[in-house]
Amino acid sequence: MTRLEIRPIADEEVAATIDLWKRCDLTVPHNDPAKDIAFARSGPASDVLGGFYDGKLVASVMVGHDGHRGTVYYVSTDPGVRGMGLGAAIMEAAEDWLKTRGVWKLNLLIRETNVAVKAFYESIGYDQEPRALMVKRLVAKQLDEGSKSK
Ligand SMILES: CC(C)(COP(=O)(O)OP(=O)(O)OC[C@H]1O[C@@H](n2cnc3c(N)ncnc32)[C@H](O)[C@@H]1OP(=O)(O)O)[C@@H](O)C(=O)NCCC(=O)NCCS
Repeated sequence: MTRLEIRPIADEEVAATIDLWKRCDLTVPHNDPAKDIAFARSGPASDVLGGFYDGKLVASVMVGHDGHRGTVYYVSTDPGVRGMGLGAAIMEAAEDWLKTRGVWKLNLLIRETNVAVKAFYESIGYDQEPRALMVKRLVAKQLDEGSKSK
């Protein structure tokens, strides 16, 4: 596929990005994608990249770093154009975004049951490391999600 342009999304492309994420089944009721996008685009350590083919959004990724490691979320390609290298291309763009900012290692989380996506990441060079994920909610659920939980 040629004519793929990958760049940070603009304000007027937020709605199309959310629509893509929905079609990729990446949104959940307890996460407001508009809020996630606004937060990621609000500072220099994170952004949302879009892959545009003939001006149409066909891939996207949220990328960022915490001052040490990089990470990605919402890795997505349009269901109609999968298996054509767009996922690899958007991930390469996210990796370049991080390398440009001095980040040399990317950690990402996938659900244990998401076997297909694990194969995707393995095919583009990712290995599984034995780590335990521990999390702590820093804002009470009703405060964090009050306006968006339906
Ligand atoms: C995962 C996803 C981004 C892959 O996008 P894609 O455009 O199809 O990926 P590519 O065409 O660039 O594929 C790159 C490689 O991954 C492999 N791959 C992609 N999807 C795969 C799958 N479901 N099973 C096995 N391998 C897969 C391809 O075969 C290719 O390998 P190759 O280079 O050896 O041929 C896409 O399927 C998607 O948006 N899924 C839904 C959202 C999601 O689960 N995102 C990840 C959240 S962690």
